[in-house]
Amino acid sequence: MKNIKNSIFYVGVNDRTTHLFERLWSLRRGVSYNSYVIVDEKVAVIDTVEASSAGTFFGNIAEATGGRPVDYLIVNHMEPDHSGSIAMLRNRYPEMKIVGNAKTLQMIAGYYGISDNLVEVADGGTLSLGKETLTFYLAPMVHWPETMVTYASEAKVLFSGDAFGCFGALDGGVTDEQLRFEDYYDEMVRYYACIVGKYGAPVQKAIQKLSALQIDVIAATHGPVWMNSIPKVIALYDELSRYAAGKGVVLAYGSMYGNTAALCDEIACKLRSNGVEKIKIYDLSSADMSEVLRDIFLYRGLVVASPTYNNELFPPVRELLNKVAERTVKGRLFGFVGSFTWASAALKRMNEYAEKNAWEVLPCSIEMKQSALSVRDEQIEEFAKQFAEAL
Ligand code: FEO
Repeated sequence: MKNIKNSIFYVGVNDRTTHLFERLWSLRRGVSYNSYVIVDEKVAVIDTVEASSAGTFFGNIAEATGGRPVDYLIVNHMEPDHSGSIAMLRNRYPEMKIVGNAKTLQMIAGYYGISDNLVEVADGGTLSLGKETLTFYLAPMVHWPETMVTYASEAKVLFSGDAFGCFGALDGGVTDEQLRFEDYYDEMVRYYACIVGKYGAPVQKAIQKLSALQIDVIAATHGPVWMNSIPKVIALYDELSRYAAGKGVVLAYGSMYGNTAALCDEIACKLRSNGVEKIKIYDLSSADMSEVLRDIFLYRGLVVASPTYNNELFPPVRELLNKVAERTVKGRLFGFVGSFTWASAALKRMNEYAEKNAWEVLPCSIEMKQSALSVRDEQIEEFAKQFAEAL
């Protein structure tokens, strides 16, 4: 039994079986679906878990409650990694009231056909469990429109939904008294970049809205429960949602036969000799896209290199640019390298992306015909020098 604070217990589960979160994002270290139960005069569960883990989840609840029935289920977020066990939990506890805002309740009906014994709450609404009182704050688009967070005022615990969450199963503990923030840093940035990255403005709004609360514990739906690292966790989410970035360069290329790759290696060496210390190079045909996005959220520089393919961008490069554009990534410095064999198109297409998304692009792009024999050393040096200066 994992007590968090006062009468609050962790009843979530680790998933080390699923390979792709949302069938998109790699989970090499697994993921946790966090759920909590408050055992007071009334018993309340906060969020559920992904459906395949329901059996373990129900066992955890029974252990924490000593077999008492669940009176309330609070639904902060409806994405099925958290809502997937709602219908099964209702079958287990038929009297259980389900608490959510108007948008949540509409989704519960839509996903699970449940339309009875529901309690609708508004922004700032409260629910007393006995000693503990819950207050609900709407946090739309962190990560879906119905998203809300729940604050337990007696224990000063914020149940924050996806906000402040991260990838990575909980290896040997639940809270950051047992697990180190630093060990989850990469997975938190990767989670943010992939899942929440599009919603920087709503995250900023939520951070401001919740800033008046005294928070001793952040209990998110993924990753460790934060107690000691709260300032670090909030600072990181604040930076990421402002699209703040450090000095460094991601160099992401497509290359069919190695010519564009060879040019990128030369550019990387020149960037380093011009003082850029942090350089991450990715071959987009084999790279893990979630790691590329993670590093794009960390570093200001993004050099993109693409062959011309069917008079378009090389497909994996186009996929990356679409993902960057979808996430409305701001404040980055782009450098473009286009290559072609008989008809140039890649560089033109990259510039179209830049114009459409108002990206800042280094003026001296490089274009290569067939191989690096067509590119002068001075051109590469000038590109790297200007890029390093503008970082
Ligand atoms: Fe972890 Fe948006 O669900």
